[in-house]
Amino acid sequence: MKKETIMLVQGSWKNVSAIAPQAAELFYQNLFAADPSLKPLFRGNMAEQGKKLMQMIGAAVGKLNDLETLVARVDERTKPPPPSAKSKKSQIQTVSF
Ligand code: HEM
Repeated sequence: MKKETIMLVQGSWKNVSAIAPQAAELFYQNLFAADPSLKPLFRGNMAEQGKKLMQMIGAAVGKLNDLETLVARVDERTKPPPPSAKSKKSQIQTVSF
């Protein structure tokens, strides 16, 4: 990705994160409009879900100039937990980018 593109994405993300709750709400509105069958998959509080979504995107956008780290972190987070993992606690919450 070109440096200029990264700067544009990071610049516009600033505007989106300034209205994070509304942006997250729009994301899910559009997602469920595109496929209403997805709605029952989301069982928790949607405001909390929206926060996690925005944090995740923010972390990814912040790491665009360090794609190696970004890919490694996403890879880590998308692996299923080992069978021994006892806690069902969110792994995303503890990410420190
Ligand atoms: C920009 C794209 C997306 C990002 C950054 C994202 C991020 C996240 C995050 C951070 C969580 C919370 C994980 C946790 O609690 O540990 C989550 C949960 C989830 N995501 Fe996504 N997501 C995206 C797109 C989607 C899409 C397109 C779908 C469906 C087709 C989807 C389905 C789900 C479901 C079903 C859950 C679990 C909800 C629950 O446990 O109640 N996500 N996502």
